[in-house]
Amino acid sequence: MEKKLNKNICCIGAGYVGGPTMSVIAFNCPDWQINVVDINADRIRSWNSKDLTKLPIFEPGLDKIVKKCRDVNLFFSTKIEENIAKADIIFLSVNTPTKKRGIGAGYASDLKWIESSARQIAKFSEGHTIVVEKSTLPVKTAETIKTILHSFEQDDFISLGKKKKTFSIVSNPEFLAEGTAINDLLNPDRVLIGGEDEHSIKLVADIYKTWVSPKKIISTNLWSSELSKLVANAFLAQRLSSINSISALCEFTGANINEVSGAIGADTRIGQKFLKPGPGFGGSCFKKDILNLVYLCRFYGLNEVADYWEQVVNINLWQQNRISSLIIKNLFGTLSNKSLAIYGFAFKANTNDTRESPSINISKNLLQEGAKLTFFDPKVNETQILNEFNEFLYEGNIKVKDTALDAAKGTDAIIVLTEWEEFKYLDWHSIFKIMRKPAWVFDSRICLDQKHLKNIGFKVWTLGTTD
Ligand code: UDX
Ligand code: ADP
Repeated sequence: MEKKLNKNICCIGAGYVGGPTMSVIAFNCPDWQINVVDINADRIRSWNSKDLTKLPIFEPGLDKIVKKCRDVNLFFSTKIEENIAKADIIFLSVNTPTKKRGIGAGYASDLKWIESSARQIAKFSEGHTIVVEKSTLPVKTAETIKTILHSFEQDDFISLGKKKKTFSIVSNPEFLAEGTAINDLLNPDRVLIGGEDEHSIKLVADIYKTWVSPKKIISTNLWSSELSKLVANAFLAQRLSSINSISALCEFTGANINEVSGAIGADTRIGQKFLKPGPGFGGSCFKKDILNLVYLCRFYGLNEVADYWEQVVNINLWQQNRISSLIIKNLFGTLSNKSLAIYGFAFKANTNDTRESPSINISKNLLQEGAKLTFFDPKVNETQILNEFNEFLYEGNIKVKDTALDAAKGTDAIIVLTEWEEFKYLDWHSIFKIMRKPAWVFDSRICLDQKHLKNIGFKVWTLGTTD
């Protein structure tokens, strides 16, 4: 049943996906009203903060868009029910972490937030509503959402005697990368829309067409769209595990990983992107999506395929453990009575997100060896860091400082784990002076000037080289 188009969008979930995506839609579609809702009142308060440096997410360019659109056609609120009722289109951008217990624990996604959102939509929506899956989801999640929504179509029509509710489900996975989210949203490589009815696909496509070329808008069936998202992330992560595995070989053979990466990437069939070696991939998506893929393959008895993809995650953890062991080995095999400065806690530069950050695992390995750690990250706050180490905290073994220089004071080594641009331009002479000697720098991101550091007097280890 059609309802008159109110040009009203509701997005459930004001996180790293929902917040920036809806801001960019609001920016490009002034005739649509966008309501972003969340159960987390603190998060909504931060989105509404007058001080734009207090937005819950740090993304370059996001503050300017929020400033322009907020309270014009972009609204952040906790009023979930009324905003569901008004909406023509509802985007689902809630969290879908890996299950911690029960069937599929450690692999499958926990869909409890998706399920509860679907139930809320079923209850509060009015007339016809298009429900768009935006969160990364296991293939066939649309089936779950459909089952919940369609059962309400029946209930409402038969027992309540109200205006009949109807729903269409569309999959529109988000491909933005954190740190470049605004640019990725403004200039996407493609927009993928999977669905079962042409009308809903067209309506969602029309929103994107206000700023994206129609040539870049791909429409598929629901399942292809859901699977493509998992596979895109699996392929990207696979490149990283491949180059990281070769970084280890370079350290034995005298080859230089940056030179190898440049040489193979010059082949246009391989390409230069996503070949930067590092301490392993982090972020909320890669590991979760690959493990989802692995679970799906095992479910269908494709055990060899599952093992193949699982190895991408295994190599990632191996790289983190390998780097931890190298640090310990170079610091004379023991970290007792040693202080180390960790530079960078975000999973990559230009974000304050720490989910699955390699810094977490590597730091835990170092703490287990008895090290005292002092952290510095330009965008991650003390609470976020301390929260990761509850079981490791004892008197004074973990500190968080506001500057790189303060964090270095009295330490034996600096471990660079996030490639923040500002690390290149630190006053390394001053840092050297206040450290215990021999003073080490471990550069897991290959982002510092090794020669400059060695000239100052540092001992330097750089990933993927014997220099
Ligand atoms: C990723 C996908 O890129 C994006 O399309 C999807 O929507 C969500 O997952 P994101 O996790 O935000 O985005 O960041 P991304 O830039 O992909 O980086 C992921 C991890 O890989 C980071 O830890 C990053 O440091 C690492 N990485 C990336 C490298 O180590 N080397 C590279 O060359 C690229
Ligand atoms: P992502 O990176 O996928 O955007 P986040 O964890 O950053 O994930 O954001 C997901 C958001 O969804 C959180 O702010 C969470 O509070 C919100 N959320 C989860 N379930 C619901 C729900 N039923 N209704 C409204 N918001 C929800």
